[in-house]
Amino acid sequence: MVAPTSVRAGENVRLNVNIDHVATLRNARGTPYPDPNLAARICILAGAHGITAHLREDRRHIVDADVESLAAELRERGTLFNMEMGASDEMIGIALRTRPTKVTLVPERREERTTEGGLDVIQKHAALKVQIARLQDAGIPVSVFVEPMAKTMDACASLGVPEVELHTGEYANAYESFGGFAHSERLGIAARHAKGLGLRVAAGHGLTTANVAGVVAHVEIEELNIGHALVADALFVGLDAAVRAMLEAISHPEWSRR
Ligand code: PXP
Repeated sequence: MVAPTSVRAGENVRLNVNIDHVATLRNARGTPYPDPNLAARICILAGAHGITAHLREDRRHIVDADVESLAAELRERGTLFNMEMGASDEMIGIALRTRPTKVTLVPERREERTTEGGLDVIQKHAALKVQIARLQDAGIPVSVFVEPMAKTMDACASLGVPEVELHTGEYANAYESFGGFAHSERLGIAARHAKGLGLRVAAGHGLTTANVAGVVAHVEIEELNIGHALVADALFVGLDAAVRAMLEAISHPEWSRR
């Protein structure tokens, strides 16, 4: 399916703020602050459409109690809560208990600094299908965080998920050195392929107010998960202003500096 040409780049793109690094800062000193729930409230009041948090196996930032309280509060407020997690039995148990609005399955290696690379939906297809069914049978829709490649999109469609999240890390790295045009094109091709298979398309990783234009240029990409750069901006301008600036950059990509 080809997206209607009347949709303008950046129009109607939803922003979920990833608040992991609010918890990183809190955990650095073991204080109760800064509070991820308070951060979530500020993001939503500033116009963000949802909140994302990654419960890692090593609990280096978000911890179980955060997931519990974020899921409960955001459900009460009618706001989307996207829980990122590895496809382990432990994480599935937590998701089934806390009931986020959706789960995004990500690959996870303890030694990595951040999520490097997408989920291997081809090699791990059979095992993922079982884990995804456990969540979706319980009414929790699942997205998978994958590399932007046609064969990956095909594998995602056969997993029975309604949505994919395209890994924008390579695009973001390439943007820094030479503009990332080829990688942006690659994201567009994958997004159109996914959309043609009936999948909703999200994207994220390494996005900033400067480089987000090359992602929202593809109107098939309807949702973004952005954390690190936004929380970093918040240190200087405040969280409310950082969310508003990101929303501006998303909805008016033609203003972005290149
Ligand atoms: N999407 C997924 C699946 C991620 O794992 C991450 C990082 O936790 C992000 C988006 C956000 O990336 P960043 O923090 O670089 O904005």
